Amino acid sequence: MGVYTLLPILALFFCTVSAQRSNVQCKKENGLYMHEQYCDYYYECEDGVPKEKACPNGLAFSGKGRGLMQNCDYPHRVGCPDSDGRVMGQAPIGTDNCPWLYGVFAHQTSCTRYWQCWNGTATIQQCPFSLLYNDVLHSCDWPDNVPDCQKHPICKDQPNGHIPIEKSCGRFWLCVGGYPRLQRCPAGLAFSQTALRCELSQLVPGCEPPPTTPAPDDDDDKPAVSGNQVQGGEAPPRRSNARPAGQFRPQNGK
Ligand SMILES: *[C@@H]1O[C@H](CO)[C@@H](O)[C@H](O)[C@H]1NC(C)=O
Repeated sequence: MGVYTLLPILALFFCTVSAQRSNVQCKKENGLYMHEQYCDYYYECEDGVPKEKACPNGLAFSGKGRGLMQNCDYPHRVGCPDSDGRVMGQAPIGTDNCPWLYGVFAHQTSCTRYWQCWNGTATIQQCPFSLLYNDVLHSCDWPDNVPDCQKHPICKDQPNGHIPIEKSCGRFWLCVGGYPRLQRCPAGLAFSQTALRCELSQLVPGCEPPPTTPAPDDDDDKPAVSGNQVQGGEAPPRRSNARPAGQFRPQNGK
């Protein structure tokens, strides 16, 4: 009798244990399954038995054979934290410039650069064109979308406008959304520190072009030189052709 009553109890006991271990995470006999709490852990099921696995430090489970390495990818690409409350569970292993061994991280002082960390080794990266590093997206973005970089010292008083550069005739800062872009006046124009725009060089004190032709002799009443030769080398630039003030060279990108 004892054996016949014990067996079902034992069977129930083992079934419950194995059900708890396998049915919760192992939907199929073999496969990889999300951890119920953490993005950077997952279960590898073998014959219905789950084994907990950790992603490389800083990466999150992305699926079997997917992602950067070892079934894991950057948390921002995977979507971690997620709406089910999963968060990173490992303690960050930091090295110089790398808060985690793997990841894309903001530079400490620069808005145009960022760190790419691979197994704790940081490589500096530069955003192309005039893009800035957006630490929410972990990628380069238009300056207007990067709120932390809006208050560049050059543009702090004027987030959108022209800022003179001391002693420079041709160059000036164009502040766009609080971030400066170096600009150059078109040929023949100079940046006026008072008008805050490009004007004819000879109208900007200190930026007058050097005379290229010697002062003509007093020969006003002599007949003009025949033919289409131009006396004295280059003709002075035609000012009526000057481009509008404030026009700047377009940059790469949009
Ligand atoms: C990461 O670096 C450590 C030592 O810094 C090394 O032992 C390990 O093999 C490296 N891992 C990978 C995946 O490169």
